[in-house]
Amino acid sequence: MGKATVIDFTNQKGGVTKTTSAIAFGSVLAREGYKVLIGDFDPQGNSTYSLIGEYSQRKDESGNSLPGILRAIIDDTVSLADVVQETGLENLHIAPMEKKVMGRSVQLGKILDNTDIDVIKREFANSGVLDYYDYILLDHGPKIHGFEETACLVASDYVLTPTTARALDMSGLIELIEYVKEVKKYNPNLAFLGAFFTLINKSKVNEWNKAKEYRDKYGDTFMKAFIPQESLVGLLEEGEFLIEHSKKAIRGYEDLVEESLAKIENLEKSKNRKEVVNNV
Ligand SMILES: Nc1ncnc2c1ncn2[C@@H]1O[C@H](COP(=O)(O)OP(=O)(O)OP(=O)(O)O)[C@@H](O)[C@H]1O
Ligand SMILES: [Mg+2]
Repeated sequence: MGKATVIDFTNQKGGVTKTTSAIAFGSVLAREGYKVLIGDFDPQGNSTYSLIGEYSQRKDESGNSLPGILRAIIDDTVSLADVVQETGLENLHIAPMEKKVMGRSVQLGKILDNTDIDVIKREFANSGVLDYYDYILLDHGPKIHGFEETACLVASDYVLTPTTARALDMSGLIELIEYVKEVKKYNPNLAFLGAFFTLINKSKVNEWNKAKEYRDKYGDTFMKAFIPQESLVGLLEEGEFLIEHSKKAIRGYEDLVEESLAKIENLEKSKNRKEVVNNV
């Protein structure tokens, strides 16, 4: 297949399982035989650590730190394809966060011209990763309006937003959906795929009722699939996969993947219909 669909896992709230969800969603897809790349754009490097350990400590033969995703975006001589690492799961790769670029902590926005908002999209296209992978999933820190986060939206096709019923503040979600609409002026292809509930504990009746109430009230904004809370053994430990540890949560992610792929297929059909109509 190839010609990747790019999905941005984003929410300005912290600790709502963005990283866990990107990895679990990717693991389910990879197990189904799709080629998947996780792009770690979070300076905390949690998805990198979880999948391949402390990448920023690795050195080449000359003792220099290895380039990661930031270097590939910043430096024209380093391709994103060259920094990609295999993980313990077949078909699941990661473009790791290196934390430091040439000895300095960086934020893309501090180095690059803040108006070059296509910088990540261009690297995806030029490095060949869009042609090679079926899905590219982007992980972030808890922010949406920054330069990096915006450049990720510009490089994406869809946005998926994990949220807890506890943390859910509809105004935050509405703000995110509005921001996605704003970014459409740079990337008309971008669409909000949906928000989904995570860390759901049905025995906490108030929370569960609140989640159901939101799903009923806001219809298509929320996915039907939800992810139960489960005591997870070493979830974010190096090289350990949720898929191997948590039957219930992973079933939730399987439902989410199935629902997301069906929704994407429908949205693609309507995008194509619109293009046909516009071209007539
Ligand atoms: N289904 C689950 N059940 C129980 N705990 C979970 C589940 N999914 C994730 N967690 C735990 O919840 C915590 C937050 O998850 P995670 O790091 O993925 O969130 P995040 O949104 O990426 O956080 P940040 O904003 O810091 O990037 C982690 O300790 C993780 O192990
Ligand atoms: Mg995270």
